Amino acid sequence: MPVSIRPLHDLFVGEVSGIDIAKPLTPDEVTALETGMDRYAVLVFHGQALSDEQQMAFSRNFGPLEDARGGNVTKPGDKRLGTGMNDVSNLGKDGKPLARDSRQRLFNLGNSLWHSDSSFRATPAKYSLLSARIVNKKGGNTEFADMRAAYDTLDDEVKREIEDLICEHSLMYSRGSLGFLDYTDEEKQMFKPVRQRLVRTHPVTGRKSLYLSSHAGGIVGMPMPEARLLLRDLNEHATQPKFVYAHKWTLHDLVIWDNRQTMHRVRRYDESQPRDMRRTTVAGDAPTVAQQAAE
Ligand code: OGA
Ligand code: MN
Repeated sequence: MPVSIRPLHDLFVGEVSGIDIAKPLTPDEVTALETGMDRYAVLVFHGQALSDEQQMAFSRNFGPLEDARGGNVTKPGDKRLGTGMNDVSNLGKDGKPLARDSRQRLFNLGNSLWHSDSSFRATPAKYSLLSARIVNKKGGNTEFADMRAAYDTLDDEVKREIEDLICEHSLMYSRGSLGFLDYTDEEKQMFKPVRQRLVRTHPVTGRKSLYLSSHAGGIVGMPMPEARLLLRDLNEHATQPKFVYAHKWTLHDLVIWDNRQTMHRVRRYDESQPRDMRRTTVAGDAPTVAQQAAE
């Protein structure tokens, strides 16, 4: 059966059928999915029970995996998953939900803010692939916003004003907005701000999108309060209900999104119960702007 994609939203998001992603793909299948990603920016698969190895193998069809180091405050000895996997569950190494005051948990709560994965890295991520291994019964939807539509619907004057703006992104900005303010010297070094264009162009389709993220906390050459207000305004515009799709998870769903064209966030859920979500991340191929210093 050939790969087929059915739209789930007026603007973006497709549901894929006719493929078993636990098995090696044919070149035609990879092409169909890449083309689908360029068009839909988010693809949803159902009934894909995967091991971590299978998820990583599937992800590598779209490029090399990103090095996950530097993206969280979890100490190496506390990691539940192996190299190549991003743990976005609420679980500790013992498989139990993290304590309410766990620093790891409080840091990871930042995923509830609208963001684009790894916008805090000089070379930000291409795709993210999220696999549902244990679904939480209450809440925990993941929402996606179409940043191409957000850009397209800006006034021409605003488009001109923001075309060449460069933002500063850091995990300390997103977490800082939640009052998570204490970092070790090593973390401060690791989370040093990087620069990203505010408007970026998709390398295949040529469509422009607003490159926003809760990690964006300043704009080069603009006074801070003015920058933060502009970013707030743009975020408010970009996350209007008409640009948003909410994914309600069922066990063994896998969702891929293009971080260059979308933002996402997780909604609140019952944290006394497990929610085991595992992410692989396909690395981007270039910075969006020249960086001042090497990484
Ligand atoms: C992520 C993320 C949201 C979720 O995996 O990058 O933000 O629903 N996850 O867990
Ligand atoms: Mn994320």
